[in-house]
Amino acid sequence: MEYETPLFLRVMEYASSADRDVIDMVSGNPDWDPPDALRDGLREYVDLEPAAFQYPPSDGLLELREEIAARRGVETEQVVVTHGAGEANYLAMARALERDRGEEVVLTDPVYPYYPGKTTMLGGTQTFVPTDDRGQLDPADVRAAASEETAAIVANSPNNPTGAVYPAETIRELVAIAEEYDAVLISDEVYDHFDLSGTFESALSVDSDHRIVTNSFSKSMAITGFRVGYVIVPPHLADDVRSRHMLVNVAGSRPSQYAVLHALWETDPTYYERKRELLRERVETFTDALEAAGAEYTTPQGSFYVMARFDDYPGTLENVFRLIDEAGVAGMPGEAFGDSRTEWLRFALVSPRIEEAARRLADYFE
Ligand SMILES: Cc1ncc(COP(=O)(O)O)c(C=O)c1O
Repeated sequence: MEYETPLFLRVMEYASSADRDVIDMVSGNPDWDPPDALRDGLREYVDLEPAAFQYPPSDGLLELREEIAARRGVETEQVVVTHGAGEANYLAMARALERDRGEEVVLTDPVYPYYPGKTTMLGGTQTFVPTDDRGQLDPADVRAAASEETAAIVANSPNNPTGAVYPAETIRELVAIAEEYDAVLISDEVYDHFDLSGTFESALSVDSDHRIVTNSFSKSMAITGFRVGYVIVPPHLADDVRSRHMLVNVAGSRPSQYAVLHALWETDPTYYERKRELLRERVETFTDALEAAGAEYTTPQGSFYVMARFDDYPGTLENVFRLIDEAGVAGMPGEAFGDSRTEWLRFALVSPRIEEAARRLADYFE
């Protein structure tokens, strides 16, 4: 099987080799500080005894799993700590496809590109369900697309790239559809701390043996480089997920898990509230400039991405390169996210230079 270099890597490479100043709005790497307690935890780690430098339990430090379980209202046995949500999604999809209940994975369009990539890698096939202009998913469309062949439905709320936050009703329906077809709803909730709408509903609110929740601290603690995430599985699937995790990784990163645990214990909720406030301001600054530039755009209810459509400027890789060279702003081509947003570009609001980027875009498209 051949793997293509992910488009975002190609865009980042192009942007960093450009011979002009470029504002990077490509990746989902937060530009703000992690919680202070995370740095404290890391500092403390350096001086621990040699045993702390050895393998942690394969499924994660017990205290971290207990802390996650307590916060999420599940049993500790249901929690496996992973290398970010990336691995959590892989484990969930692999488990769903291994159940021999079909080979089809129902995804949305637009889609976070790693889901179709993982589906292919795992030998499954994709069925895409379009979302509406605001990125909302109509459960009736998912029901129409699902069949006896459906192994998994993958949903992501708050959503990358649309910024949609699915209402409780949608989440309930998605779990119900998974149950009807003996499939698994995989709910990727990595942006849960960036719900700007106050309407986010976790799939954990629906009790079911047919849903798996994936999450991570990459975004919530601004530590995409630490690689700490988790998967919450129904008890009867936990052993299989744990085994695959162990066979692939042996174990996760002990210092990262230690620092995250420390941060969970010591971080005040105001840390997260301040980041949401920062994002709200950035959304306003950026969308005001898009409005002034006469663009069509999304106002995210959550996550930290804005999609924009400029007249006669389709969201191709070529146009993204042109925007880097001619405007000094790097975004992602809409075509990276499926067929439905090929006219659009995606901008990640994770740069301190949002105002400058907005000005450059407004000038360029004027
Ligand atoms: C929807 C979604 N899921 C998963 C991930 C990967 O998260 P992690 O760094 O925890 O592997 C990302 C990263 O951008 C994402 O946008």
